[in-house]
Amino acid sequence: MIEKTTEWEPRFAAFVAEEQDASDTAHDEGHVRRVVANAKKLAEAEGADLAVVLPAAWLHDCVVIAKNSPRRSSASRLAAERAGALLRAAGYPAQHIAAIEHAIEAHSFSARVAPRTLEAKIVQDADRLESLGAVGIARTVITGGANGTPFYNFSEPFPVTRAADDRTSIIDHFFTKLLTVADTMQTAAGRAVAEQRAEFLKQFLTQLGTEIGVPFSDTGRNGVATRRHGSSANDAESADDSTHIKPRLLA
Ligand SMILES: [Fe+2]
Ligand SMILES: [Fe+2]
Repeated sequence: MIEKTTEWEPRFAAFVAEEQDASDTAHDEGHVRRVVANAKKLAEAEGADLAVVLPAAWLHDCVVIAKNSPRRSSASRLAAERAGALLRAAGYPAQHIAAIEHAIEAHSFSARVAPRTLEAKIVQDADRLESLGAVGIARTVITGGANGTPFYNFSEPFPVTRAADDRTSIIDHFFTKLLTVADTMQTAAGRAVAEQRAEFLKQFLTQLGTEIGVPFSDTGRNGVATRRHGSSANDAESADDSTHIKPRLLA
């Protein structure tokens, strides 16, 4: 048995490199690697147990279900079950597995499972940071573009007098979701990073407004989520278009 958590990381990394769908921007290997990096920093700042946080972060998206599937809301539970089975089969220290399963099950918006432990809160925060900052902007634009959604609403680029609708404008996704994410953070360390990254989103909108000749204002109705379509086409976290549950063990 490999005793030290860090010694397991190359095995988790190899599993993720093999498993995650490179064409699925929301859940590709880069996403998982960034979530792991975020989770390590938050765990260090908050004093969380890496023996739980690391496997949960590496394996949190080991089951992905298409957003239009009726099983969509059970994706994180299935990922938790699969990760637990993989870890048990691979001989991971058994005392951590229930906590790892809980952290994975509670990570996603769609699961509606409240994180009960510090480790679960950290994995959820680490995943949510992906909606913010430069990465959040890139993922949103890539996902919206892949769905054929227009960049912004020409008559009113920033929703002030109209409801935000991210089915018709990629920029509207900032208002239906991205600018609200920082308020959902679970840990102080996660919130600090989220607020800095949310500020970058506003800088981006300000610069965009300058370039297209329509000022962005952070007051008024800008920044208020006015219309959220449960699982939006432009939601990077919901953008998976494939179901892949492969019977593979950690090798
Ligand atoms: Fe996920
Ligand atoms: Fe994720």
